[in-house]
Amino acid sequence: MKLWGGRFTKETNQLVHNFNESLSFDNKFYKEDIQGSRAHVKMLSKCGILTEEERDSILEGLDSIEADITSGNLDFDPQYEDIHSFVEGVLTERIGEAGKKLHTGRSRNDQVALDMKLYTRNEIAETEELLKELLKTIFGIMEVHTGTIMPGFTHLQKAQPISLSHHMGAYFEMFKRDLSRLKDCRERLNLCPLGSGALAGTTYPLDRSMTAELLGFYGPTLNSMDSVSDRDYLIEYLSALSLIMMHLSRFNEEIITWNTNEYRFVEIDDSYSTGSSIMPQKKNPDIAELIRGKTGRVYGHLISLLTTMKGLPLAYNKDMQEDKEPVFDAVDTVKGCLALFDGMLKTMKFNTDNMRLSAEGGFTNATDAADYLVKKGVPFRDAHGIIGALVLKCIERGESLDKLPLDEYKKISEVFDEDIYEAISMETCVSKRNTIGAPGVEAMKEVIEIYRSFISEIDNS
Ligand code: ARG
Repeated sequence: MKLWGGRFTKETNQLVHNFNESLSFDNKFYKEDIQGSRAHVKMLSKCGILTEEERDSILEGLDSIEADITSGNLDFDPQYEDIHSFVEGVLTERIGEAGKKLHTGRSRNDQVALDMKLYTRNEIAETEELLKELLKTIFGIMEVHTGTIMPGFTHLQKAQPISLSHHMGAYFEMFKRDLSRLKDCRERLNLCPLGSGALAGTTYPLDRSMTAELLGFYGPTLNSMDSVSDRDYLIEYLSALSLIMMHLSRFNEEIITWNTNEYRFVEIDDSYSTGSSIMPQKKNPDIAELIRGKTGRVYGHLISLLTTMKGLPLAYNKDMQEDKEPVFDAVDTVKGCLALFDGMLKTMKFNTDNMRLSAEGGFTNATDAADYLVKKGVPFRDAHGIIGALVLKCIERGESLDKLPLDEYKKISEVFDEDIYEAISMETCVSKRNTIGAPGVEAMKEVIEIYRSFISEIDNS
């Protein structure tokens, strides 16, 4: 059952058919394919290329095909090469002669370009919704935890105290950028390739603006060769998806660490954890690890499509059929990960006492102790040396800076006074950092208000 048997004298070898076919995966966008055909026949009849009766009969046929596929009453017949031939073949079976006119002024090359764009546009919108949900979850944690002190790390070594709200804010920024990248990609792809034909347009007087408008595009694409061979938007989308996965992966890596017996900063809910078949005590963060693991798979799809496209001469080449499976798998993977991660984060418990204890125990206030000396006139480099020596002393005594007696301070520098303890308390260390973007409560509150407006904007967009 082929669209192109006319010039052939032999049947296709079965293995060739199996190798060449795409119906087994491009059936995923049967709805988009039918949507494109509807717009195409409406335009053909408006331009006088099809009669109104032919148009109505085709539209009815397309409706029945879509309904039957959706309800499970029509199976994809593997004898067809792709979704385009399948729909046309079934249409002709159902409505007769008029069905054979559906493909007038169209090639599968502009058809598949259109279908992929429609599919991608829908999927980007869905990915955006999932990201918005996650942003709201992170925002909720930020609002509650401006006063929750935890250590901030560099080199995975305790560095300076921050708040949980501030830490979460870093991820808010990442996913906010991801959201704007998706929007950019959706905007840029939004020109309609239908009417570009196989590569050189068509001799029929098609109204390309009409189909573009019917399908919600800003207008028609302006070069028919580029239209049928452009897959940039898929690569952009895969790249945006890869970045989302990279951010999810970093976040999950932190959660896995925070969830260890050594840290106990968080506890992943039982409903998002798994057990061991041998060790009865185990509660493993499998979901977080799987999300981290699936990142590689999405990166792979990006590289795969970049590589597929790199040597292709203009215009359409069959290599491009290889765009589908990587994109489908990447989209399904990322959507699944976003939804699961959001659920895990929503149910995760934060052990705020452990976070605070950890911040206190790690000399995270050493920079502030040096700044204390600077404020009393000691040059920063000298102050750095003095506090370094005090840290060494504390390590020997098994103590923290805020517990070290004043006379020990004074032995190293006379500049120290009783007010050192206030200056290096965890609260002071965090709350003094109030330039915009810093963890101080005032600065965080300002940022939280900006995020609140951002969330209400994206909710209404
Ligand atoms: N299944 C094909 C694809 O996905 C559809 C376009 C086929 N066009 C062609 N000239 N063989 O790319």
